[in-house]
Amino acid sequence: MHNRIMITGAGSGLGREIALRWARESWRLALSDVNDAGLQETLRQVREAGGDGFVQRCDVRDYSQLTALAQTCEEKFGGVDIIVNNAGVASGGFFKELSLEDWDWQIAINLMGVVKGCKAFLPMLEASKGKIINIASMAALMQGPAMSNYNVAKAGVVALSESLLVELRQQEVGVHVVCPSFFQTNLLDSFRGPTPAMKAQVGKLLESSPITAAEIADYIYEHVAQGEFMILPHEQGRMAWQLKQKSPQALYDEMASMCEKMRAKARQARE
Ligand SMILES: NC(=O)c1ccc[n+]([C@@H]2O[C@H](COP(=O)([O-])OP(=O)(O)OC[C@H]3O[C@@H](n4cnc5c(N)ncnc54)[C@H](O)[C@@H]3O)[C@@H](O)[C@H]2O)c1
Repeated sequence: MHNRIMITGAGSGLGREIALRWARESWRLALSDVNDAGLQETLRQVREAGGDGFVQRCDVRDYSQLTALAQTCEEKFGGVDIIVNNAGVASGGFFKELSLEDWDWQIAINLMGVVKGCKAFLPMLEASKGKIINIASMAALMQGPAMSNYNVAKAGVVALSESLLVELRQQEVGVHVVCPSFFQTNLLDSFRGPTPAMKAQVGKLLESSPITAAEIADYIYEHVAQGEFMILPHEQGRMAWQLKQKSPQALYDEMASMCEKMRAKARQARE
């Protein structure tokens, strides 16, 4: 029976909602995060929702913590059927202002954290003919202004997922990549960037979402079941992606005018 799932960043936001969605189907959950209190709360809600499992602190930057988590899954569950590489942080700022440290931090968590998660769990997924679900972002496809390090990390997650889709087909390991637009979670708490004005702008975008993290988790559940590779939960995101594929230049022009507006706002905030 396939009913063992591991989720990174499960102590908040989308990770918690994904846990609850699978818990409602009575799955056993390995919940990991760097936020211990958040993890305990997720486990409490998971049990209420009909699932069960365990929590383990795991910083996705540290490969040894991911292999230790894989080991615990082996000991407690005898393997794993789905992994969700969800842990992530927010960042923003114009390229000119981002430091190389901002880049290293962003890539280490949002991109290398996913690479390490896939690598640590691959032997177990090959054994179970399981699935990888990577959480990227619409930023990976649209390359919005003033978030180049986030865009690059998330585009890397899409490229990694495409590579694994192709390489792991013969091993019957399924691969899915999720690209949501902005939605309200605690993501802003982790924001790193050169100016507070940019943080405020990102905060407004998170608030603007027409759908909740729970609805996104539900969408992911349904579309993974249908075998869809690239999962775009926001309707506006699906439309934007279609438009970009048909007419990339129109999208670049739109992004460039958005960039001008953001720069003007940032200037105003400084004055
Ligand atoms: N909220 C959005 O608008 C949005 C849009 C697109 C994609 N995403 C992606 O969704 C995923 C989940 O984010 P969220 O919006 O639920 O934010 P969130 O901040 O509510 O949850 C992210 C979780 O990841 C954990 N985390 C951060 N760094 C970690 C590390 N080094 N190791 C382990 N855990 C770590 C945090 O403690 C937190 O519990 C992220 O990958 C994010 O980039 C979010």
